[in-house]
Amino acid sequence: MARRPMMAANWKMNKTVREAQDYTAALIPRAADAEGVDVAVFAPFTCAGEVARMAEDSAVIPGVQNFFYEDSGAFTGEVSAPMLLDLGIQAVIVGHSERREIFGESDEMVARKAAKAVSSGLLPVVCVGETKEERDAGNMWEKVSGQVCRVVEELDDSVGGEDIVFAYEPIWAIGTGDTATPEDAQDAIGKIRGLLRELRGEEFAESVRILYGGSIKPENAAEIMAQEDIDGGLVGGASLDVGSFAELIKAAS
Ligand code: 13P
Repeated sequence: MARRPMMAANWKMNKTVREAQDYTAALIPRAADAEGVDVAVFAPFTCAGEVARMAEDSAVIPGVQNFFYEDSGAFTGEVSAPMLLDLGIQAVIVGHSERREIFGESDEMVARKAAKAVSSGLLPVVCVGETKEERDAGNMWEKVSGQVCRVVEELDDSVGGEDIVFAYEPIWAIGTGDTATPEDAQDAIGKIRGLLRELRGEEFAESVRILYGGSIKPENAAEIMAQEDIDGGLVGGASLDVGSFAELIKAAS
């Protein structure tokens, strides 16, 4: 089964509404040219509505970087799935390592968010990955497999591989310039697909997309994207400039 590659921009805590408008206007024609690739932008809440408005009827998938799994209520500072759908948002990053490490999101919370996104009709991009210490101690797979299992446990049996995306983002490679080698990225992502095959069967494993994230740039993207199990990228720093992100989209197509 051919999986459609995805190239996703995670702007993190960057861009004003004006900057988001200029970027989105420049990205729309480039996304239209990118045959066979899903192009997604994960914007801050403050400009996500504007990105979604501009992206309507375009090939750009508008997304945000976080949400909460309750629909409404006394959850000060949080944003719900119905609120995002109301803006035209289609996708959401769940469990980014910065949310887990800086804001204390647990595996349990990440799993509930992933399941809620799917049941709400939002496409979750669920991030998993190990720290440098965990990798050096030989515990990469223990950490990553635990994170994946906890998410899959929470999903309804009816959820298919096309309803969710995973992103392997080794924490030591994020924002450091220190990319995983294509072989290390393939090794981890191949193992994740193997685990999903054990947990949910062949069809799920063959249709689920698994991205790599961590210091992707135009110079290293093609080699990473060429790996068998890697279905695209989740990009921070190199996605902030639309020209450089457009080069990454080309590398994925
Ligand atoms: P960088 O591309 O800046 O390393 O960030 C990766 C990331 O965290 C994407 O979610």
